[in-house]
Amino acid sequence: MSEKAVLNIDGKDYDAPVMHGTLGPDVVDVRKLYADADVFTFDPSFTSTASCESKITFIDGDKGILLHRGYPIDQLAEQSSFLEVAYLLLHGELPNAAEFTEFEHNITYHTMLHSQFDRFFTGFRSDAHPMAIMTGAVGALSAFYADSTNVDDPKQREISAHRLIAKMPTIAARAFQYSVGRPFVSPRNDLGYAENFLRMSFSVPAEEWKPNPVMTRAMDRIFILHADHEQNASTSTVRMAGSSGAHPFACIAAGIACLWGPSHGGANQEALEMLETIGSVDNIPEFVQGVKDRKYKLMGFGHRVYKNYDPRATVMQKTCHEVLDEIGHHDDPLLKIAMELEKIALSDPFFIERKLYPNIDFYSGITLRAMGFPTNMFTVLFALARTTGWISQWKEMFEDPGRKISRPRQLYTGAVNRDYVAIDKRG
Ligand code: SDX
Repeated sequence: MSEKAVLNIDGKDYDAPVMHGTLGPDVVDVRKLYADADVFTFDPSFTSTASCESKITFIDGDKGILLHRGYPIDQLAEQSSFLEVAYLLLHGELPNAAEFTEFEHNITYHTMLHSQFDRFFTGFRSDAHPMAIMTGAVGALSAFYADSTNVDDPKQREISAHRLIAKMPTIAARAFQYSVGRPFVSPRNDLGYAENFLRMSFSVPAEEWKPNPVMTRAMDRIFILHADHEQNASTSTVRMAGSSGAHPFACIAAGIACLWGPSHGGANQEALEMLETIGSVDNIPEFVQGVKDRKYKLMGFGHRVYKNYDPRATVMQKTCHEVLDEIGHHDDPLLKIAMELEKIALSDPFFIERKLYPNIDFYSGITLRAMGFPTNMFTVLFALARTTGWISQWKEMFEDPGRKISRPRQLYTGAVNRDYVAIDKRG
């Protein structure tokens, strides 16, 4: 590719340098275009816009590739652990044994919440959606850590990252326990990250909680699959909020709010409810016709970037089978509907022409339900895991010496200049 692009505007040529990454499309650097040519570029949903330079995650939507710091997602899901992936996303390299021990200790010893913090939960209605609780609770965390408000201090950025990664499971488990009326359970320092979360979520005072290695491994793998995903809507929200220098906890709360949407992280809940609505394999043809008639979308299908199989969906489907086998639900009716729906969709021209394939949300709902989570907790688990990606991207933004506040412009098509008319003179 050439080293510059030439834009011809009103007969005048403007050069825009072309920048090359290590993988993926080149970019045309238009940062000087407005100053030179007095025009903006126009890309409302950023389908053709690179908002930043990043070294964290690479996605090739056509080839179904997802790399975290160069490592393929399927290798990380099979061979790594969520905390090791968190270290990788934050620091750029897999940790050696000493580095991992220190990181794991730092995370483990920040899992507790201030005792006053629990009062926030009781302020919510008992039927509050756990994502509403997460959005409020994580934002409230910024009131507790005045010692890490200087986002230009790398040490304070690091402690914020550790606190967020450590406390999200405790908050998420509290949101769940509160919604089902069970007492809160404190984290234990002798348990691993995923196991600690499962115990805080499902432990009841009346009996000793029994760990299940299959569920623990599945939970840890699900966290890995949801850890980061390039500049998606919620990550871009965190970067945008962070660009003003806002408190990191408030930025993550903004990311949680964005993730909640049904087109984004809320799709796992919607996908499961869709399978429940379909109810039987016999109803699939009629449901698919409704999708073709644009009555509704096939939740858990399609992706802004993946125009081939979402590599996470492949691992998610495998994990789904492992969990269902563990609980003896080999013939879970929803799994049958999901597999038949996938088979039909992957052979139907309507979906093929639109390059619609299952994404990570298609099988995650069935898996999480089999693990005992209600549907309204699915996006909470997504947010718990994605916090690591969000804070890694936020940290990377602050390490960019050229960092500035994000401030997009617009194409204005509103009323042109006009004078005010007093109310008694209006028509
Ligand atoms: C996540 O960005 C990320 O990385 C997100 C994520 C992450 O890890 O952060 O991967 C997590 O958000 C996964 C996506 C979860 N959302 C869903 O499963 C909801 C259902 N999917 C759709 O809403 C949709 O596919 C989107 C929002 C995901 C993508 O929407 P786009 O970019 O508008 O899709 P597109 O432009 O490629 O659509 C092409 C065509 C359009 O039809 P036409 O108007 O051209 O005829 O396909 C249609 C779309 O209407 N289409 C669908 C569809 N998705 C797109 N039709 C039916 N069912 C669908 N699911």
